[in-house]
Amino acid sequence: MKALVLIGGFGTRLRPVTYAVPKQLIPIAGKPMLYHVLDLLPPSVDGAVLATGYKSEEIARYVAAHPPRIPVRCVPEATPLGTGGAMRNASSELSDPFVLLNSDVIAAVDAERLLAAQASHGGVGTMTLAEVDDPSPYGVARLAPDDRIVEFVEKPTREAAPSRWINAGVGVWRRAVVDRIPSAPVVSWEREVVPGLLADRVYGFRLDGFWEDAGTPARLLRAQRYLFDSGRGGRRSVPAGATGKGPAAVHPTATVRGATFGGWVTVDEGASLGAGAYAEDAVVMAGATVEPEAVVLRSIVGPGARVRSGHRVVDQVLGERAEA
Ligand code: GTP
Repeated sequence: MKALVLIGGFGTRLRPVTYAVPKQLIPIAGKPMLYHVLDLLPPSVDGAVLATGYKSEEIARYVAAHPPRIPVRCVPEATPLGTGGAMRNASSELSDPFVLLNSDVIAAVDAERLLAAQASHGGVGTMTLAEVDDPSPYGVARLAPDDRIVEFVEKPTREAAPSRWINAGVGVWRRAVVDRIPSAPVVSWEREVVPGLLADRVYGFRLDGFWEDAGTPARLLRAQRYLFDSGRGGRRSVPAGATGKGPAAVHPTATVRGATFGGWVTVDEGASLGAGAYAEDAVVMAGATVEPEAVVLRSIVGPGARVRSGHRVVDQVLGERAEA
């Protein structure tokens, strides 16, 4: 079975760091978000198609240099085709059924049970659903008592939302659904295609564990905490020469001697934390420098950025080579 990973978005909510690095390559709990997403796939999935667009060459280069645990093939789009257009563009690569993944979902999904649900009900698809307080930024499902989806509305107003169960960004679909994607240049799968599939039976698969759309800085850091706390990355202890507490994921080429960790920190390739620097709930990206006695708290420090000695970076995203 193959998975299709939608990975072509601009990641606007994570700017300015996504001006330099596509969202899916931001390291959390020690490895890029994309690799955690691929970890959701069950063993029966033996390959993934990455529907890329924005910064497609960076993604292709990265996966070639760091092969994921299953083979991946990039199918780039010259211009953004939308989520439905991306599926149609990659359709020749898909299996029947195929797994559809958004590339910024960090969640506890029992993918085996999801596949079993799809096999047992025989409809055209199964969509994982997460229950959230405010469903308005998402696709929202209304469910029949047997969990068949009877209504699906993309980004309704809060008042108009038919429930609090939203598209969690992981699904299994019969290949035939791709033939229902209109041939317009740009097509939204959620807005223009899914509602028309409901008559052919689409079922919800309710998640009851952790789920996060890691598309904003705060949510990305919350997802990182979950990944660390559930043992999916990093270590419990801090590296030799540093003090404080883990969990932490420090690249072997990073320098952290004399720094203090407050937990849930990724320090990527060639980055450094100076003596007396403090980092907690943070991502310090490749080649970034946190000078002595500086503080990074609940923040993302972009590639090659610099936090000057004694400065505090709190609840911020620093772009590539930014200075604070
Ligand atoms: P924001 O700009 O911050 O909203 O992030 P985003 O660009 O990732 O958009 P969003 O989270 O709404 O997209 C959901 C998923 O679809 C993400 O995994 C995107 O990478 C992906 N995606 C969105 N638009 C396209 C597209 O035109 N082509 C492809 N291949 N993927 C897309």
